[in-house]
Amino acid sequence: MKQDLIVILDLGSTQNTVVAREIRELGVYSEIHPHDITADGLKALENVRGIILNGGENRVVDGQPVQIRPELYHLGIPMISIDYPQSECAVTFESLPDREALKQFIFEECRAHANWNMKNFIEDQVERIRQQVGEKKVLLALSGGVDSSVVAAMLIRAIGQQLVCVHVNHGLMRKNESESVVNVFRDELHANLIYVDATERFLGKLENVSDPEQKRKIIGGEFIRVFEEEAGKLEGIDFLGQGTIYPDIIESGTKTAKMVKSHHNVGGLPEDLKFELVEPLKQLFKDEVRACGVELGLPHDMVYRQPFPGPGLGVRCLGAITRDRLEAVRESDAILREEFARAGLDKKVWQYFTVVPDFKSVGMKNNARVFEYMVIIRAINTVDAMTASIEKVDWEILEKITNRILAEVDHVNRVCFDMSPKPPATIEFE
Ligand code: XMP
Repeated sequence: MKQDLIVILDLGSTQNTVVAREIRELGVYSEIHPHDITADGLKALENVRGIILNGGENRVVDGQPVQIRPELYHLGIPMISIDYPQSECAVTFESLPDREALKQFIFEECRAHANWNMKNFIEDQVERIRQQVGEKKVLLALSGGVDSSVVAAMLIRAIGQQLVCVHVNHGLMRKNESESVVNVFRDELHANLIYVDATERFLGKLENVSDPEQKRKIIGGEFIRVFEEEAGKLEGIDFLGQGTIYPDIIESGTKTAKMVKSHHNVGGLPEDLKFELVEPLKQLFKDEVRACGVELGLPHDMVYRQPFPGPGLGVRCLGAITRDRLEAVRESDAILREEFARAGLDKKVWQYFTVVPDFKSVGMKNNARVFEYMVIIRAINTVDAMTASIEKVDWEILEKITNRILAEVDHVNRVCFDMSPKPPATIEFE
């Protein structure tokens, strides 16, 4: 079923996403598009019931007027302009449109139907993907993270075997993570999946490299090279699937908003790959992406997993990565996750993990002096990852985790709990 659509044109407001969410909460699908969209571009979106000029018609950003193309006024589509009275100076906030006025515009003037739900969204996207791709093939880097997993499931639903997924195991994945990607996508969803175990290659490149940014660069760069090599072996690929979601677009900067940070996932591929992009999630917020994954039948654990950095355990095995410490991070992380799940903390705590520093401390095992590594546990809560507070984990749970790590993880004789909020500490150690 085609969903009715309210288009928000971005005229430099910082409130685009808030308005979009507000409309979706009213049950009507909304999308945000750049202010300079053409009439044809708008028509191609289909089912556009109304247009909101968000930021006002006479908005000036960086000294330049931000105006829509005049042809848009003659399309016969109901249009309102939300002109925020206040400036966008730091700490003033713009006022939001009155909910009642918004309702009246959407339901009475635009006569939109409240038919936005995940089932309809998936149906629409499946149709759009089929139209875009036709009989051709799509390549997707499937990391196993929420976004790439959901986009893979969506593409499998739309084009089945025309999708080629490549999963690169860089050797820095969590315990059983790559296995679970293969299990879910190849065995259960019958995806066309190429699994590349590049562990040795990554660990080789990372040998003796201790600078965190250098490590990230190597991991990201090597990922692209491995992916390109795999892509080069395939024939007849015209499209590249990407798990871009709306916050990625905002953070990477829009035509009227400055960049917050570059999109820094390991999956971030270079533009010169020369494929046309297929990005069916690019209008969704994170919670909607998860809901979409559930509707597509992905396992709950995969869809609701905590954030995991692109460079993986590489930035949790502190300093120059060694195999024994990498194993200690992987094993202690698995114990932490298991015990947090057992205590129900996995549903409460935003992010939790272990790190292993690159120095040793003295201890005693079997009546003998040992000189071994330590594991540090970190458990934090946050809304946007910009600031974070620690989770005050129950002492007994921490003791149990500590005892298990000391008993089950090789080369470890000490466990610590990180008490630091962000700022001044960051969430990750590197
Ligand atoms: P920090 O350490 O900056 O982390 O407080 C904020 C959030 O970002 C994640 N993070 C990364 N994610 N690539 C990623 O994809 C990275 O290089 C990276 N570094 C940090 C971190 O896990 C936390 O959720």
